[in-house]
Amino acid sequence: MTETTHFHDKIEKNIGLMAILIAAAVSFGGLAEIVPLMFQAETIKPLPGIKPYPALQLAGRDIYLREGCYNCHSQMIRTLRFETERYGHYSLAGESVYDHPFQWGSKRTGPDLARVGLRGYSDDWQRAHLHNPRDVVPESIMPAYPWLEKNKLDGEEVARHMKALQRIGVPYTDAEIAAAPEEVKGRTEQDAVVAYLQHLGTHLTPADDNAPQGSD
Ligand code: HEC
Repeated sequence: MTETTHFHDKIEKNIGLMAILIAAAVSFGGLAEIVPLMFQAETIKPLPGIKPYPALQLAGRDIYLREGCYNCHSQMIRTLRFETERYGHYSLAGESVYDHPFQWGSKRTGPDLARVGLRGYSDDWQRAHLHNPRDVVPESIMPAYPWLEKNKLDGEEVARHMKALQRIGVPYTDAEIAAAPEEVKGRTEQDAVVAYLQHLGTHLTPADDNAPQGSD
């Protein structure tokens, strides 16, 4: 028996050692695939028209996370024809560079929301839907969020969040951060979520929407 088969014998007979070595091999492979993506310009540069969320929309995004909307809604349109026909142009990495954390996901109990702002719902529809989805979509299984229209936003908290995002590279100016409390003053959590939803996908121009749909 040669040296190497001896070594393999040892690993195969020791499940603990084998598990560790498998984990090491898989991690190495994973890193080799993932790390270069973090430095590729295309994945970290904002697309034209992508701007950091204004204060009210950012507050809405925070509530979206707090309420766990992502448990039922993805924000990532895949490059498959049935997806692009239903939801619009497939999602691009450069569209979510200011999303920390991003909301891509694949869990869809409800529809994808990446471009819901282009669907033409009025603010009133969004409000009624958040208050009680069954008032506007009788067969809906989405939970009701009636407290959003009662809770007022905390402007200082929104400003603090903008400051934290600025620190990790989102280009908010100090003036924008200072103005945030005044901007969201007196507004409800529902105002914020509606502003956020109505904005999603609206950076696309009609020309983008008709763009070739890729390799689907
Ligand atoms: C338990 C799963 C579930 C959760 C949690 C949930 N939704 Fe929904 N949502 C749905 C379903 C199912 C639909 C489709 C039926 C309807 O329109 O109500 C939907 C529809 C929607 C629509 C309309 C989308 C379209 O294209 O017609 C919006 C907007 C929306 N949800 C926003 C939210 C927000 C904001 C939250 C969190 C505050 C949330 N949802 C939480 C299941 C969910």
